[in-house]
Amino acid sequence: MIILAPSLLSADFSKLSEEIKNIEEAGAQYLHLDVMDGHFVPNITFGAPVVKCIRPISKMVFDVHLMIENPEKYLEDFARAGADILNVHAETVDDLKAVMNTIHSLGCKAGVTIKPDTPLSAIEGVLEDVDMVLIMTVYPGFSGQKLIPEALAKIPTLNQIKKDKGLDFDIQIDGGVGIGNLKEVLDTGVNIIVAGSAVFSAENPAQAAKDFLTVFKEYE
Ligand code: DX5
Ligand code: ZN
Repeated sequence: MIILAPSLLSADFSKLSEEIKNIEEAGAQYLHLDVMDGHFVPNITFGAPVVKCIRPISKMVFDVHLMIENPEKYLEDFARAGADILNVHAETVDDLKAVMNTIHSLGCKAGVTIKPDTPLSAIEGVLEDVDMVLIMTVYPGFSGQKLIPEALAKIPTLNQIKKDKGLDFDIQIDGGVGIGNLKEVLDTGVNIIVAGSAVFSAENPAQAAKDFLTVFKEYE
C-alpha cells in the first residue's frame, strides 16, 4: 500500500485543526510533522507541545521528522505527546542502533533519515533495526524546494539492498514531490510520500490529496 503523508509545515497555522481534518477526510493516512531546531537546520518550527495539542483531533499516523541536534534528549517527549513514528537524522547521532532501540522501547516505530549528501552507507548497518528509511530529496529546512534527482536515485539502490537482505522497512521520500513528478518518484519503489507545498499550498488541499491517492491506485 502506498501512503500519503502531507507535511503540516505548509499548512495555515491559524487554522490547524481545519487543515488537518480536511486532508484526513480526503484519505491521507499519515500526518508528517517537521520539527526543526534552528541548529541542525536554519529554521525553527514546533515541538512536542504542539504535537500533543493536535493529537486528539486526528486518527492519522503521526510521523514525526526530527530535524534537531541531540534528538535522544527529546524522544520521550514526542512519544508522550502522541507520535507514532519517530524519525531521526543519521547525521545527528553516533549510535543509531541504540537510538532505534530507545524509540522502540517508547512504543513508537523507528525511522532513520539521510540528507541528500549523506550516502546510503551511513545507514546500512542499522537497516535491520528500522521500520522506515526516509530519503530526503531536498536539503532539510524549508518546504517548496525542487527535488534533487541524485538523491532520488538512492531509492532504487536502497530497495535492492532491502530485497537482497530480505528486510521489511518502509521507504519514505521527503522534498519536492508533486503531481508533476509523482510517477517518476513512484517508479523508484518508494511507498510513503511526503508532500508539503503540493498539498497544503494548493488552492484545495483536500482535492490535491485525492489527486495523489488516485495516482497511487495505479501502482497497487
Ligand atoms: C523539509 C521538510 C519537508 C517539507 C517538504 O525540510 O522535511 O517535510 O515540508 O515540503 P515540500 O513537499 O514542499 O518539498
Ligand atoms: Zn519532513
